Amino acid sequence: MQDKTIVELLKSEKTHVEVIIRGWVRAFRSNRFIALNDGSTIKTLQCVVDFENFEEELLKKVTVGAAIEVKGTLVESQGQGQTVEIQVTKLTILGEANPEDVKLTILSPKRHSLETLREQAHLRVRTNTFGAVMRTRSKLAFAVHEYFQQNGFNYMHAPIITGSDAEGAGEMFRVTNLDAKNPPLDENGNVDFKEDFFEKETNLTVSGQLEAETYAMALGKVYTFGPTFRAENSNTSRHLAEFWMIEPEVAFNDLDANMDLAEDFIKYVINYALENCADDLEFLENRLLEEEKNKPQDERSEMKLREKLRFILENNFKRVSYTEAIDILKRSKPNQKKKFKYIIEEWGADLQSEHERFLVEKHFKSPVILFDYPAKIKAFYMRLNDDGKTVRAMDVLFPGIGEIVGGSQREERYDVLKQKMEAMDISTEELYWYLDLRKFGTAVHSGFGLGFERLVQFTTGMGNIRDVIPYPRTPGNAEF
Ligand code: 4AD
Ligand code: MG
Repeated sequence: MQDKTIVELLKSEKTHVEVIIRGWVRAFRSNRFIALNDGSTIKTLQCVVDFENFEEELLKKVTVGAAIEVKGTLVESQGQGQTVEIQVTKLTILGEANPEDVKLTILSPKRHSLETLREQAHLRVRTNTFGAVMRTRSKLAFAVHEYFQQNGFNYMHAPIITGSDAEGAGEMFRVTNLDAKNPPLDENGNVDFKEDFFEKETNLTVSGQLEAETYAMALGKVYTFGPTFRAENSNTSRHLAEFWMIEPEVAFNDLDANMDLAEDFIKYVINYALENCADDLEFLENRLLEEEKNKPQDERSEMKLREKLRFILENNFKRVSYTEAIDILKRSKPNQKKKFKYIIEEWGADLQSEHERFLVEKHFKSPVILFDYPAKIKAFYMRLNDDGKTVRAMDVLFPGIGEIVGGSQREERYDVLKQKMEAMDISTEELYWYLDLRKFGTAVHSGFGLGFERLVQFTTGMGNIRDVIPYPRTPGNAEF
């Protein structure tokens, strides 16, 4: 007796063997054909029951969503659509599913909106779409580790609770165990965090970068891959309050090497998905084609999902300076015709996602790496260029996504960094350890952050970031 998953059985060349399989019923046709899915693949295994040999009461319980165990013989299939099937000899109901329950309608063949499925986040992964997305997510996560491990990086676990605001943007969730109703106050009437658990103000991390830098300056090449939290009140299809970020940091890399790394890394993981998630990506590609049928012609994408992924692999990312990008944007039609919500007037303007997407989707028609941004619109830790007004920042922009990576060469000069921190009102006392790094064997170093969910979104073609993470956390939403 073999105990295998459906993905293994569908590939098996040996038939006429006894097998046992457990899974959830997807369909039961003609009181004879059970389509069984066990999550190992998007495909179902056909289980053929001879209804004369089974109790009617038992067969009645074979309903969509029910968990069952099937014993039988694996045989070549006579029917179309599958190579093998199981001739069932024993059928056991493990867990019934009441077909009348409205929650289960999400498993019916009828298409449900992704919004409806989000309300059933504990069941949505039983659907083909979410099964495909979550299997692909898992493979991508593995590919991330594989890439860095093969290239000599050390996986570093950055702290989740921290006292520092790495991005200096103040979008943090506080961590405290003070009594919210009656917190201790200091002599000025402010909450006294000295009485708090850590005896100081702490928050959930917005980025592991600062800590990763200290490790890069000892281990050479490191990467983090962990949960990241931002209390941005942005209800968009690209933002989550809890997301996963991958942050490589490399000693002695300058910005060019940093761009090379980002491009090589992204291509590796996308290629890995193409090679290892073929069935799921095929399904997601067709889902997208189906969805686009309802859109006007000019809103449909020019490429199918896997074509779009292969396009990424086969083309160099365009590397464009911020200054060049501003010139292009200023001269662009949507800017001149005032079609952008934010009109680009002059150098120094922050780029909105409408501008990023114009550059990627309309102008260059390729992924773009923008670099050398104005110091004023970027974080304090980025290395100042000799012009005194731009920093060695880089953002990787992707079609349909906008910014997928943000990174930079870091300011490694003690005096310059200290000056910048003071000018930008970043506490040099809080971050003494970050400044210390510039005193003891400082060196050029660079890194970036890739938003894992945005990568999963791009790879699976899902339009909303909430549909690529198991339990999305967004403003007003922390169910489950
Ligand atoms: O550009 P960001 O803010 O860069 C940093 O945090 C740097 N410390 C990274 C580094 O240099 N080590 O964020 C990096 C990426 C973004 O490009 C985006 O893909 C993703 O993280 N990201 C989010 N993803 C989902 N929801 C959010 N609220 C996100 N905020 C950033
Ligand atoms: Mg950014």
